Amino acid sequence: FTEKDLIGKKIIVTAGPTQEAIDPVRYITNRSSGKMGYAIAKEASRRGADVILIAGPTDLEVPDGVKFERIITTQEMLEKINLYFDDADVLVKAAAPSDYKPTHFSDKKIKKETGIDKLEIDFEKNPDIAAYFGARKKNNQLIVGFAAETDDLYENATKKIQSKNLDFIVANDVTMEGAGFEVDTNIVSIIYKDGTIENLPIMEKSELAKIIIDKIKNILE
Ligand code: PMT
Repeated sequence: FTEKDLIGKKIIVTAGPTQEAIDPVRYITNRSSGKMGYAIAKEASRRGADVILIAGPTDLEVPDGVKFERIITTQEMLEKINLYFDDADVLVKAAAPSDYKPTHFSDKKIKKETGIDKLEIDFEKNPDIAAYFGARKKNNQLIVGFAAETDDLYENATKKIQSKNLDFIVANDVTMEGAGFEVDTNIVSIIYKDGTIENLPIMEKSELAKIIIDKIKNILE
């Protein structure tokens, strides 16, 4: 028995990494598998929400009943969210979009030059998607962020709540075994706007998705 307690709610979930091309055969990306975001999309859909999953390159199967949009770059993720954001009740940013992209795309494969041992590539900033929508959100819209940290978990995550205007943030220390990228489990602390911190034990990403969806539902009420 599933309680369909999110009927009529429109939820955008982002998941996975982005890829930023260097030349026709190379790109920069990160270790996100998409598992965390897909688990949230699946749970929201199971509970009756109208779910749009916007994901970078992953191998995962799209959950039943979910509207799916594939993107490659951070800029594309922003533009795709923009198509749905005005009508959405919630935006969940579980994706790991690249903060930087190569300044120049080389349309020819970069060659290995004899006698040159060092290759330098310049990067420029990508837009911060969560901050972009955080600045535009209406009072009845909710934005949930994630923070992937290797140090000063609480401090860094708390700063992101403010700079991105989030309703709450799910912070994972990605150096811990069983937490963060690629694995089926996660270990997180949920931090709220008022500074309250809730530390959760290790659990399956599917289990954590239920907790996150419960929090969202409570705030929407
Ligand atoms: O995909 P998995 O393998 O299951 O791994 C899960 C996860 C580790 C990717 C996930 O739990 C997680 O932490 N996602 C956020 C990763 C991230 O980009 O963290 P960040 O601290 O760099 O960014 C903070 C927030 O801003 C995130 O909500 C992120 O989506 C968002 N962001 C970041 C950069 C950017 N240019 N635009 C953004 O909106």
